Amino acid sequence: MKQLFTAGFVGCGHMGGALATAAMRTVGADAVAVYDPNEQKTASYEQMGATRLCAEDVARRCRFLFLGVKPQVVPQALADIRAGLLDNPDVILVSMAAAVSIASLKDTLLGLGIDRPVIRIMPNTPSAVGQGMTVYAASADTPSDAIDDFCRVMRASGDLLALDEAKIDAAGTVAGCGPAFAYMFAEALADGGVACGLSREEAARLSAQMLLGAATMLKTYGHPADLKDAVCSPGGTTIEGVHALEKNGLRAAVMSAVAAAYDKTLRMKK
Ligand SMILES: NC(=O)c1ccc[n+]([C@@H]2O[C@H](COP(=O)([O-])OP(=O)(O)OC[C@H]3O[C@@H](n4cnc5c(N)ncnc54)[C@H](OP(=O)(O)O)[C@@H]3O)[C@@H](O)[C@H]2O)c1
Repeated sequence: MKQLFTAGFVGCGHMGGALATAAMRTVGADAVAVYDPNEQKTASYEQMGATRLCAEDVARRCRFLFLGVKPQVVPQALADIRAGLLDNPDVILVSMAAAVSIASLKDTLLGLGIDRPVIRIMPNTPSAVGQGMTVYAASADTPSDAIDDFCRVMRASGDLLALDEAKIDAAGTVAGCGPAFAYMFAEALADGGVACGLSREEAARLSAQMLLGAATMLKTYGHPADLKDAVCSPGGTTIEGVHALEKNGLRAAVMSAVAAAYDKTLRMKK
């Protein structure tokens, strides 16, 4: 009997690669198999001890098959690994593709003559450093012990939240797209520091650590408005900055960003 890998990754780009990194920390690199058409993308995981296989063998020899391809590539990627999936009755498909529902994944599998449980996830790239936020929903035929095992595999990626599938798209726009919005804020903050005379390096370091600290405060103490109020001394400097942000529509801009990403997700489903 050939080695069975706990987690297999077909498509190791930004997101698949981030989760492969996290899975190696949880289950050990020797329990992780990887495939990407671009060998350079799997080289670092091989160096860390993961096994590179062809896509079909990843599907054939893993318990959890993480599909990390773009949404429009999902049907072709599943067709490519059909023989491996057929040979592996215990495999559970884990899809991270934005806007691709469990029903549509099941339909694609059934069209290939395959019936397997599906876990749909919406992760984010901070999973690579153990600070990810992943939401998930499982098809009704997913055994509960498989969901427990899946959660164990994902443990080192960061926080994990089960959600009704109907909320996954909205969650993805906040947590999946959110890092890009946060990086833009971080960059703008650093730009402001440079405009005030800091070096780029100094400003970037201050900005990143400030965001880390603020996020930790939010997770520890709760409501952002209370925390903001605590930083704003009466007649002080911070409230002047808050006023400038309000005048320039920061909140409306961020809400619009989430709404635009959500609309795009809904359009991708049509
Ligand atoms: N990036 C995020 O923050 C994020 C967050 C949540 C969810 N997601 C989801 O994660 C998925 C991947 O996104 P990504 O940003 O990681 O994209 P990406 O960096 O382009 O990674 C996709 C990878 O899949 C490879 N690939 C293409 N065709 C394949 C096939 N038939 N079989 C196996 N691998 C194949 C691509 O190789 P080539 O480049 O050579 O084509 C690429 O390396 C998407 O479905 C996306 O919706 C992404």
